[in-house]
Amino acid sequence: MRIGILGGTGNMGGGLALRFSLMHEVTVGSRSVEKADESARALGAKAAGFYGSAMRGSIKGALNEDAVENRDIIIETLPASAAITTLTAIRDRFSYRQIVVSCVVPMKRKGKLYTWSPIVAGGCDEARSAAELIRDAVTPVRVVSAFQTIPADYLNDLEAVLDLDVLVAGDDETAVESVMGLARDIPGLRPLRVGPLENSKWVESLTPLLLNAAILNHLHDPSIRIVPWSP
Ligand SMILES: NC(=O)c1ccc[n+]([C@@H]2O[C@H](COP(=O)([O-])OP(=O)(O)OC[C@H]3O[C@@H](n4cnc5c(N)ncnc54)[C@H](OP(=O)(O)O)[C@@H]3O)[C@@H](O)[C@H]2O)c1
Repeated sequence: MRIGILGGTGNMGGGLALRFSLMHEVTVGSRSVEKADESARALGAKAAGFYGSAMRGSIKGALNEDAVENRDIIIETLPASAAITTLTAIRDRFSYRQIVVSCVVPMKRKGKLYTWSPIVAGGCDEARSAAELIRDAVTPVRVVSAFQTIPADYLNDLEAVLDLDVLVAGDDETAVESVMGLARDIPGLRPLRVGPLENSKWVESLTPLLLNAAILNHLHDPSIRIVPWSP
């Protein structure tokens, strides 16, 4: 698959690029083409050093707007504050066949803890998820919400053995299935459907909850796995 990552020079985007480059053609997007190229070179070297001859994909750099064109899947790993404005500015580069994956978590610090802090947009009173606002910005492109609870540090550590769930929310079954397939391409990640895109708000709000659990209980980078009861 051809994957573009908006904000791909960051922690989360870089981690996903490293993992997906084993099998896929990845373009890391940035506001600066020089930064994108430099980041792609460093990530590509790290991936090639780890995967060796098993590496079937690649990593290159581009401006965010160019990282969208001719991609099958566009992953958004931008800060919440820039997520909608960036997409709105480049929306004419999208094609309706593509799938956008939102990893965005809108949250803010409140004292020593974190809280979910929905992006305020469009004069809407109701708190809506970042993924729904992203959908509104790129309609009719299909949007799926995923990867919010996977810490970037785990992805960036290629030696790390993952045993985690990826909660996937979306309205289009074909798009959800594609993103679940993508998640399965990272060993140790188990994708789980959690319903329509509007449920993304529950997934997004898990991240500040996990961070608070880490702060209050002295844990490092907690993630989640849903465990069935088996007496
Ligand atoms: N870090 C994690 O563990 C993690 C896990 C799950 C989900 N997420 C989510 O993934 C997203 C990215 O997180 P991150 O930790 O990777 O963030 P980050 O490293 O701070 O930022 C990602 C990239 O966004 C671009 N950027 C920053 N400010 C921008 C602006 N004002 N306008 C346009 N682009 C801007 C930068 O790229 P350029 O300077 O190259 O343009 C930066 O490299 C967030 O929404 C976060 O909630 C993070």
